[in-house]
Amino acid sequence: MITLGEYIIAKQHDFPEASGELTLLLGAIRLAAKVVNREINKAGIADIIGTTGLENIQGESQQKMDLYANDVFKAALEARGEVCGIASEEEENFITFDDKRSLNSKYIVLMDPLDGSSNIDVNVSIGTIFSIYKRISPVGEPVVLEDFLQPGVTQVAAGYIIYGSSTMLVYTTGNGVHGFTCDPSLGVFYLSHENIKIPTDGQIYSINEGNYLTFPEGVKKYLKYCQAIDNDTNRPYTSRYIGSLVSDFHRNLLKGGIYIYPSTASAPQGKLRLLYECNPMAFIMEQAGGTASDGFQRIMALKPNTLHQRIPFFCGSKNMVSTVQDMMQEHSPRSEN
Ligand code: AHG
Ligand code: MN
Ligand code: MN
Repeated sequence: MITLGEYIIAKQHDFPEASGELTLLLGAIRLAAKVVNREINKAGIADIIGTTGLENIQGESQQKMDLYANDVFKAALEARGEVCGIASEEEENFITFDDKRSLNSKYIVLMDPLDGSSNIDVNVSIGTIFSIYKRISPVGEPVVLEDFLQPGVTQVAAGYIIYGSSTMLVYTTGNGVHGFTCDPSLGVFYLSHENIKIPTDGQIYSINEGNYLTFPEGVKKYLKYCQAIDNDTNRPYTSRYIGSLVSDFHRNLLKGGIYIYPSTASAPQGKLRLLYECNPMAFIMEQAGGTASDGFQRIMALKPNTLHQRIPFFCGSKNMVSTVQDMMQEHSPRSEN
């Protein structure tokens, strides 16, 4: 029985400049996850389900739990002093933590504090996503926008928490993907899934098919491919879509599959956010042996332009992503875009 805390310390030597800061930072995330988990577990009897009546910067309705989770993660990260700034789906601008200890730290965190939050009212799994980078601005000074607009390839660590039938924390620091399951009676995360690898081929496709008519032609063709009957390749594949990225991703990671959120008429750039949804999930997926692309190129190679930028997302088993990318290229070659 290895706990998350023990595992992180045991692996500390994986970091080139191991100073213990990242260990403390992950400890802050673990603590916030436990607090959010406790609230989610009693959502039905506490006054924390439903909307606040407010909208976030992206014009999406904010749930009470969105703001609660945002406050808990923000407070935990600020209190430990291991982070100099954060950006969040629920905050219009990035935030500098300006006490001396925080300003002298080298890490920034980007997060989706509660992913799939509209599912909370109906008792469906939701999650938290986080992404950690080293700042590029000088230590000791307030953070700047450029600290947050780094390409995904420079991530130091990324992970998610899934508040599901059991609560798990899954993370990578670039040395494989490891999953920890929370024992609710003790409030301790134990190592349950070491070195997760996604099957190279999968049988599950996950997409909001209600938007079919306005999908790119390459995606439409791929969906017909998934539905075609072919004994050799075990088609038709199975369609599974929860509507919580974390939950859909987690299932496909363990079983093999592909998650697609392409451009649509109502979301011409896709719906998911590059910095705190796609990049961390892409890092985890690549570390598990899978692929994450915008339909044409590697997600983690993209240079972000804005904090809340959206991007089409194709993520999962290597061969499945490769097949749909070929179809995208065939129907709308990149050079025309
Ligand atoms: P969030 O709750 O953080 O805004 O994210 C919701 C996202 C993601 O979790 C999910 O995969 C996607 O929205 C579902 O979108 P559709 O309802 O358009 O399918
Ligand atoms: Mn989300
Ligand atoms: Mn969210």
